[in-house]
Amino acid sequence: MKQPVRVAVTGAAGQICYSLLFRIASGEMLGKDQPVILQLLEITPALKVLEAVKMELNDCAFPLLEDVVCTDDAAVAFKDADYGLMVGAKPRGPGMERSDLLKDNGKIFSTLGKVINDVANPNIKICVVGNPANTNAYILLKNAPALNPRNITALTRLDHNRAIYQLAEKTGKPMNSIKKLTIWGNHSTTQVPDIAHTLVGTEQASSLVNESWANEEFMPKVAKRGAEVIAARGSSSAASAANGVIDHMHNWVLGTEEGDWVSMAVFSDGSYGIEEGLIYSYPVTCKDGEWTIVTGLENSDFIVAKMKESEKELQEERDTCADLFA
Ligand code: NAD
Ligand code: LMR
Repeated sequence: MKQPVRVAVTGAAGQICYSLLFRIASGEMLGKDQPVILQLLEITPALKVLEAVKMELNDCAFPLLEDVVCTDDAAVAFKDADYGLMVGAKPRGPGMERSDLLKDNGKIFSTLGKVINDVANPNIKICVVGNPANTNAYILLKNAPALNPRNITALTRLDHNRAIYQLAEKTGKPMNSIKKLTIWGNHSTTQVPDIAHTLVGTEQASSLVNESWANEEFMPKVAKRGAEVIAARGSSSAASAANGVIDHMHNWVLGTEEGDWVSMAVFSDGSYGIEEGLIYSYPVTCKDGEWTIVTGLENSDFIVAKMKESEKELQEERDTCADLFA
């Protein structure tokens, strides 16, 4: 049996975590042979609810769950943590943009960045979920200089999965026949869901759907799906977000399938003309715990213009919270 790994999760008494924690403990994220210790962080008023979550985790008798630590002290939650799932943050309500959350949520990520820098495993792999996810990841990165920037990522896998569903529904083909789909940019309405290089089975997606559907229906549908769920549910997506986190971490740690790629918001190396250092969603493949941006894709002028628009939004978000990093 492998040695247990420490998974720190913030916002652990919230909606997303009520799905997420049970799937981590069952082995869906890191593998059915990987024991885990959950180190759960909440604000003090939520500790009672968090204790109830711990009771339920224990009552599942998961063979891989070695221990559950509940705390309101970030230094305890992140002590020696190998993985950090940064969920704890305010969600948006109807009529809000995700960037409206920056003022409140940004502070959480500057504080936690400093703590993680000091107490976590220096190789900790982080997925930021709390919105606005890309810019919160950027703030965390700037406050944690001891960490490898490649290890700080943000979640766009939910958007990627939403896009797969829309294309599968439109073409009538199975979800798992859809490969090489990309979400570029920010986890916001400027994101760029792109099927130009996508395969459906052995066929090009572009030969099965017309361009006006791709540009005028598919793209806005995926980009605005979060708001559609909020309007219907009264609160933001939770189980599907948790599923996105499981998929993101699973592929990062255990690898992507041959012949496919996934979307992850990662530290830009300047690929595709995007400013170096932004946390930008790219197509990536993963192997041996490392992601690699897929290079060499030819993008149309339409897609490039949209990618630049999303880059501009990320630059503006960063500039509005410059007080949160040196
Ligand atoms: P929620 O309100 O149900 O839960 C958030 C939890 O975080 C609460 O229990 C709260 O007490 C806790 N929290 C607040 N500040 C904290 C801090 N400083 N440290 C630790 N915990 C803290 O919200 P939710 O539905 O679970 O959503 C959480 C975040 O995830 C929101 O910002 C939401 O917008 C975002 N989200 C992102 C995606 C994505 O794809 N990136 C998808 C869905 C939701
Ligand atoms: C989502 O995409 O569902 C989340 O980011 C929540 C939101 O505010 O839309």
